[in-house]
Amino acid sequence: MRVDGVLRVPGDKSISHRALMLAALGDGVSRVRDVLQSLDVESTACVLRALGAQVPALGADMVIRGVGLRGLSAPTVDLDCGNSGTTARLMSGIVAGSPIAARFVGDASLSRRPMQRVARPLAEMGARFAFEGGDGLPMTVHGGALRGITWHMDMASAQVKSAILLAGLVGDVPVEVLEASPTRDHTERMLAGRGVDVRVENGVVALVPASRLDAAEQLVPADPSSAAFFAALAAIADAGALALDDVCINPTRAGAFKVLRRMGAALRYEHARMEGGEELARVIVEPGALRGVVIEGEEIPTLVDELPVLACVAACADGETRVTGAAELRVKESDRIRAIVENLRALGVDADELPDGFVVRGAGRRPLKGRVTTHADHRIAMAFGVLGAVPGSEIVVDDPACAAVSFPTFWEELARVVR
Ligand code: S3P
Repeated sequence: MRVDGVLRVPGDKSISHRALMLAALGDGVSRVRDVLQSLDVESTACVLRALGAQVPALGADMVIRGVGLRGLSAPTVDLDCGNSGTTARLMSGIVAGSPIAARFVGDASLSRRPMQRVARPLAEMGARFAFEGGDGLPMTVHGGALRGITWHMDMASAQVKSAILLAGLVGDVPVEVLEASPTRDHTERMLAGRGVDVRVENGVVALVPASRLDAAEQLVPADPSSAAFFAALAAIADAGALALDDVCINPTRAGAFKVLRRMGAALRYEHARMEGGEELARVIVEPGALRGVVIEGEEIPTLVDELPVLACVAACADGETRVTGAAELRVKESDRIRAIVENLRALGVDADELPDGFVVRGAGRRPLKGRVTTHADHRIAMAFGVLGAVPGSEIVVDDPACAAVSFPTFWEELARVVR
């Protein structure tokens, strides 16, 4: 397979969610450029609208007049978060800080995902939570009258960290979050860029109450998690190169690029620069002789969403790839450990589940055949879509449309760059 082309994958999902939330809570007019226009970000926009914020239709250049930190109103409808865990968890922090009640609902996948992880710290701050069956949605949050908190994280989760920071911001109380290992830090960067006193030192994130949040202009960089599918494609190709423009290479997000390099792909950054508080670069990837690697420990949060596609690259490498410390994969949009292993096996690849990860024994580049069950999980669909792009492969992905959660143009872009 030969790959060729220059792509700008869509805007970063994590930054897009946060850009809309912070614009809606800002004082005055914010502008958000290159927001990700996908189902997950649409869920955040809908939830913000239901809370009285004026969020226009998603577009390449959005102008949002904020209602201010204390300006949200009680919703008259359920807050439908669709498939989006980031919407549910971050917005529960915002509602917890506001003197309102709201019922959060989501699709079947999101309704199975754990919400106690945000409910526990937010309840300790004084919000009230009512669950209707176990740990997931539907969940009603009664917010307001919070007190400050120092919270020791027992898992690596940027969503939980962000929910606590946003509750402190909206609820006007100081918060401290002690992270077990570093996770994506977009919330901290964006709050600091909007005039909030957020300090990060030795694994402690501390937010000082602020009376207001400045309006801001946010350029959303290309999503490294989406770029990773094309970096992987170039890595498993036989020839050619892909150039991925404007990719966010924040160190808390760039783990997959490091791993692809460790596996033997030729991957380099060009035109690295700071824009909108984030480091961006053109990522250029060419094939190389691929070998299995170990992925573990503090590296996991820096590539947690990229593990499905790295597992697919591992299937094309020589030797064993072993991933541990990634039990969080079991509670993503699907049980990704199971989905990765069952689908690799369906294609004839030697793979095993571990409680907190998986092992893939790669047998080099070769076309693969079989049926992939996505469990409606966008990243499973796209990861195996990359393997399916190899000429001679016959891989049927059962639900390709679920890519629209984070990357609606994925299949067109994929077809465009494979020669
Ligand atoms: C996200 C954090 C991660 C990640 C998710 C987006 C975020 O989840 O998997 O896709 O935007 O904060 P966790 O916080 O559960 O690790």
